[in-house]
Amino acid sequence: MVHAALHGTSAGAVNGSPAKAARLREIVLFVWALVATAAVIVLAVWAQHGHHSDNRSPDSPRPRPHGKRNLIFMVSDGMGPASLSLTRSFRQLVDDIPINDTLALDRHFWGTSRTRSSNSLVTDSAAGATAFSCGRKSYNGAISMLPDFTPCGTVLEAAKRAGYHTGLVVTTDITDATPACFASHVNMRTQMDEIALHEIGEGPLGHVVDLMLGGGRCHFLANSSEGSCREDDVDVAGIASKKGWTYVDSRAGFDSLKLGKDVKLPTLGLFARNDIPFELDRRNMADVYPSLSEMATTALAALEQATRDTEEGFFLMIEGSRIDHAGHFNDPAAQVREVLEFDKTFQIVLDFLEKSDTEGVLVSTSDHETGGLSTALQEPGHLPVYNWYPSFLANAKSSAEYLAYLLRQHVASKEASLSKESLKEWINTNLVIEGLGITDALDGELSLVAANAADATTAFAAIISLRAHVGWSSHGHSAVDVNIYSSGGPAAEALHGNRENTDVGKFLRDYLGLDLDDITAELNEKLIPTTAINNQAMPMAAAEVEGSRPGWTGA
Ligand SMILES: *[C@@H]1O[C@H](CO)[C@@H](O)[C@H](O)[C@H]1NC(C)=O
Ligand SMILES: *[C@@H]1O[C@H](CO)[C@@H](O)[C@H](O)[C@H]1NC(C)=O
Ligand SMILES: [Zn+2]
Repeated sequence: MVHAALHGTSAGAVNGSPAKAARLREIVLFVWALVATAAVIVLAVWAQHGHHSDNRSPDSPRPRPHGKRNLIFMVSDGMGPASLSLTRSFRQLVDDIPINDTLALDRHFWGTSRTRSSNSLVTDSAAGATAFSCGRKSYNGAISMLPDFTPCGTVLEAAKRAGYHTGLVVTTDITDATPACFASHVNMRTQMDEIALHEIGEGPLGHVVDLMLGGGRCHFLANSSEGSCREDDVDVAGIASKKGWTYVDSRAGFDSLKLGKDVKLPTLGLFARNDIPFELDRRNMADVYPSLSEMATTALAALEQATRDTEEGFFLMIEGSRIDHAGHFNDPAAQVREVLEFDKTFQIVLDFLEKSDTEGVLVSTSDHETGGLSTALQEPGHLPVYNWYPSFLANAKSSAEYLAYLLRQHVASKEASLSKESLKEWINTNLVIEGLGITDALDGELSLVAANAADATTAFAAIISLRAHVGWSSHGHSAVDVNIYSSGGPAAEALHGNRENTDVGKFLRDYLGLDLDDITAELNEKLIPTTAINNQAMPMAAAEVEGSRPGWTGA
């Protein structure tokens, strides 16, 4: 009918009397007017609700939210769903609690994240963290760089520019992929000398981070200093101090921060040469290294105090970095304590948000799974057993990494006088029985450890995994979807369900009402002459880079 009216014709007008035709014409016009009016109203409503947002590119932010707010983003590097089952059952055994007493994380399950990178179905932590920091997919190894090797602005950088305070807390090197992606831009994750400089404000955007706590001190010391791992003689910690940073590098230095009550920003705290030891080992060295929960408590208090009278709140990224390392080593006894410490830290952040006067949200997820962990293992030559045994993890006093370190020390001190048999006996007594809590090691297992005295980490890990019936499919990462957790609330609705990892980054951006495109444009102007052209490093197998971490070598 509308079609006919539009063309000025109708069956009646052609064939009926002139009066009838005029009348019909009136009716047709009236109905046409009604339909047109309705169409205008529908179009207006559509424009307001749907069309407007459809018109923006998916990468442009939602309108700036009202009110001061804090955002805490936690990353459980390498923690897949099986790590939760492992840790939940372990805790129920060790604490003798009922099967309905779950982890804090379990009670805040929010959704799942798909993790592939732009160039591989199995991501590395760099591409994973770029999805979080920029909300963009990139190649394995990328530190907030896009597949065309141009930089992308990050949530942390945009937050700083918008007036927020910013912080990074990790248990590995502060220059490692996850923290690096929030505050630096290089083609490959291995360019840590450059990353360290960006992080202290010597990058294209100047000062962007206010507080950094973690490990990786060696990247901040000139190559002429004891404990340096830099290739150049740039004293990064010295530059930071001259620029007004408070620099602390020891347990005494950490204690002087008074769990955040006595922090003058900016502050750089590097408490280990590389990694902070696994929680399982660290608890026996608590006078040397702070824990993840202690560092997170410090950061929350310091950032809360710094933003007490400011218009904007803070953005804090906290990473349980070494869940991933335990996965690479296939060490379930180390991993279960890393996850428990992460869960404890998650609860500390929840309690902080509960008490805070400022609106805030906690979102926590993993960049990927590591190890292909399975809470069951069929022993070769045996039928499947429908069980696994957390008690073997409970008996372990040391990580496989630390036992391998003790073995290296022992061999180095006894070099000439060791027979294979006496070495095996020493390994069994001091490392396997005492350290792993395993009393029935096979001769073949001890031989394997002795034959790999230079690095027996994976040999020790295999001994305990077999006893506990914990399975692994890889010493690298896997493509399984990982969980998303949140303190919840209406704002976090945007992250419910099965999401792409880039949706997590877009959520961080939108919750703080940030414009990353402006930062990207500025980076493109400033970065090209200084680093992008000089960076000849090309993407390579990042899993190799990450998988070949050196063993623990002390502070
Ligand atoms: C677990 O179950 C017990 C007994 O069925 C119940 O009393 C308790 O409240 C439950 N706890 C939780 C955390 O659901
Ligand atoms: C230390 O850095 C300087 C300058 O970058 C370089 O010339 C020198 O070879 C480096 N030394 C070592 C031992 O790497
Ligand atoms: Zn990894």
